[in-house]
Amino acid sequence: MLKKYAIINFKGGVGKTTITWLLGSYLHRYRNRKILLVDLDPQMSLTLGLTLNEKGFFHQTYREWLNLRIEKKETIFYLMEHYYKRLQIQKDIRDYIFEIQPNFYLLPSNEKLYFIELMNYERKRFKMFIQIIIEKLNQDFKFDVVLFDCPPNFTNLTYSVFEFIDEILIPCNPDIYAKIGVDLLIFTLKKLISKFDLTKKQYIFYLFLNKARLFLKEFTQETNYFYHQLKLLENNQSDFSIKVLNTYLPERVDIKRSLQNFQFPEEFKDYFDSLSKEINLEP
Ligand SMILES: Nc1ncnc2c1ncn2[C@@H]1O[C@H](COP(=O)(O)OP(=O)(O)OP(=O)(O)O)[C@@H](O)[C@H]1O
Ligand SMILES: [Mg+2]
Repeated sequence: MLKKYAIINFKGGVGKTTITWLLGSYLHRYRNRKILLVDLDPQMSLTLGLTLNEKGFFHQTYREWLNLRIEKKETIFYLMEHYYKRLQIQKDIRDYIFEIQPNFYLLPSNEKLYFIELMNYERKRFKMFIQIIIEKLNQDFKFDVVLFDCPPNFTNLTYSVFEFIDEILIPCNPDIYAKIGVDLLIFTLKKLISKFDLTKKQYIFYLFLNKARLFLKEFTQETNYFYHQLKLLENNQSDFSIKVLNTYLPERVDIKRSLQNFQFPEEFKDYFDSLSKEINLEP
């Protein structure tokens, strides 16, 4: 069965995009899974990270593919517009996703997604959008895992993602904003769920410390303090269950390069073995 995870935090720069890519590439490389990454952020960090070369130009295969998509109006932006007007998608949308490697696919973002937010569209009409397109794609591709890289704010697409998924990975950094950010995220979501008529279900929130600072293989005092602040948020309510993962990721300066080189960093393998177990991604 398809497993679906959103990587969300309304706080910017905590590592959502980095973790989406690392988790996807780990599952692809070491667990032999068929992966779809979905870039929902108009900033396009994931898309650009995966498709630009060191000189800042698109890789040729991606550029040719993208030009064709634009010419044929086959991007997520046009799909949303079309859906908004008709509330259905009859087209074949297989070509909308780009094969990065065999069994590893990307539904890229598009800068025009900013306009969708500016157009005063009625949000509720997008409720089923993500579910419909992913299920349609999945009929052809039969993915094992889909990962949604979300923007640091609430958009029509994040709204639609909440309707589709149950499990949410929230990267947090060990700083003063971490706990406040998560409090805010959960408070906001509770409001949004009723305001926008999301189907009631039990969401599982996995809080996950990224950029942990270590000294002699132990958390520094500061990282330890903020980790325990997150632990205070753990609970098991009827609509939200919050679990703080034992797995964390250390701060490593060279992590940025791994995305552009399309190389999962070997030294992170153990962390992702442990992460995938904790978030039920084991076979
Ligand atoms: N474990 C880590 N160690 C060191 N740097 C990291 C780590 N994780 C992420 N980063 C760096 O932090 C920056 C922000 O990461 P990223 O773009 O993944 O965050 P984001 O939450 O997706 O940001 P945004 O909210 O803008 O979408 C990047 O420069 C990235 O390389
Ligand atoms: Mg991002």
